[in-house]
Amino acid sequence: MRLLTVKDEPQAFKDRTVLVRVDYNVVKGGRITDTYRIDRTLSTVKFLLEAGAKRVVLASHSGRPKGRDDSLSLRPIVDYLKDKLGEEVGFVEDVVGGKAPEDGKVVLLENLRFWEGEKGDDPDFAKALSRFGELYVNDAFGVSHRKNASVHAIKDFYDKRYAGLLMAEEVEALTTVRDNPEKPFHVLFGGAKIKDKVPVLEALVKKADKIYVGGAMAYTFLKAQGKEVGNSLVDEEHIEWARGFLNDHGDKVVLPEDHVCATGKVEECGKGYEVRDTEDENVPDGLIGYDIGWKTIKRYRDGLKGAQMVFWNGPMGMFECEDFECGTKLLAIFLSSFKDDGKKVIVGGGDTVAAVSRFHIPYEDFHFVSTGGGAALEFLAGKELPGISIITKKED
Ligand code: 3PG
Ligand code: MG
Repeated sequence: MRLLTVKDEPQAFKDRTVLVRVDYNVVKGGRITDTYRIDRTLSTVKFLLEAGAKRVVLASHSGRPKGRDDSLSLRPIVDYLKDKLGEEVGFVEDVVGGKAPEDGKVVLLENLRFWEGEKGDDPDFAKALSRFGELYVNDAFGVSHRKNASVHAIKDFYDKRYAGLLMAEEVEALTTVRDNPEKPFHVLFGGAKIKDKVPVLEALVKKADKIYVGGAMAYTFLKAQGKEVGNSLVDEEHIEWARGFLNDHGDKVVLPEDHVCATGKVEECGKGYEVRDTEDENVPDGLIGYDIGWKTIKRYRDGLKGAQMVFWNGPMGMFECEDFECGTKLLAIFLSSFKDDGKKVIVGGGDTVAAVSRFHIPYEDFHFVSTGGGAALEFLAGKELPGISIITKKED
């Protein structure tokens, strides 16, 4: 069984209006912060237009507004879409009361989360949305882990729910990582919050040959091993879990052996602290670890050379500040060379993608860059995602 995609039934879209849920959660402070998620949906929009769709109506959320909030309006995306598609793009401000312009071939709806019904998975809101398309396509992998009206309650208003091309690609790439990774399979995990990563670490460790840990989550593991962590961020509630994980899988888990630290909490890059390297995996009292050190970078790099497939999620340090960017930057550059050797690197997660973008590495230099943050992690952890479960299945 696989998902029914728009490619399976192109003729169905001829002369029909199509509501396409996308994840354009990229507007902040009135501007587009990163276009990757938008760019990745364009092939679905073009496909539907070429299939003769009468109108393609794009619907998304951005941010977590409480009611209407102009800084999170999706309006700035209109010009970007116009430019990329070479089509006029209409805009609907009132998603509940308004209607799509009759002559618009491509139309964008205002931020769905301006209406409470979206988060509340409200059937009435889903019904209002369903007025915009005779057919429904879900191309919003990034939000498929949320039980929101536009990806869940909407199911009751359509006999068939299609997957868009991006959705289909995400599911295929991440299913391979989850169920059948090419071996040797290595995982590079970073980021601050260990809590969000527990289920996915437990799932991936079954398939992985090595797991390298960086970012603040490494300090919880190091503390569990009885190392000194100074004033680094530690998730006290997960020390026991980390100890158990290391006991069971110690042969696979690789932890930092040195760090780049600050002499105080970093509130602003370059201000109010000094930078110190540690000699080994211990962080002396008073220091806070913010990046992996050079010995660790070399060790991770040498280890990763042995992989055929790598899943990378989460930065190795506070890459937003130059002082603490090296771990993430150097490993990102290193991993971007794997494709040339026929090795596959799959990049997942919002922050990881932000890092790749900050270092100006083209996304094409990786085998696959997921548009999902939380959604990718939940998918890899083996959870059933509401937004995917509603898509019609096709017998092979
Ligand atoms: C995301 O970027 O994680 C998705 O767009 C979902 O957004 P949310 O985390 O605010 O629900
Ligand atoms: Mg999120």
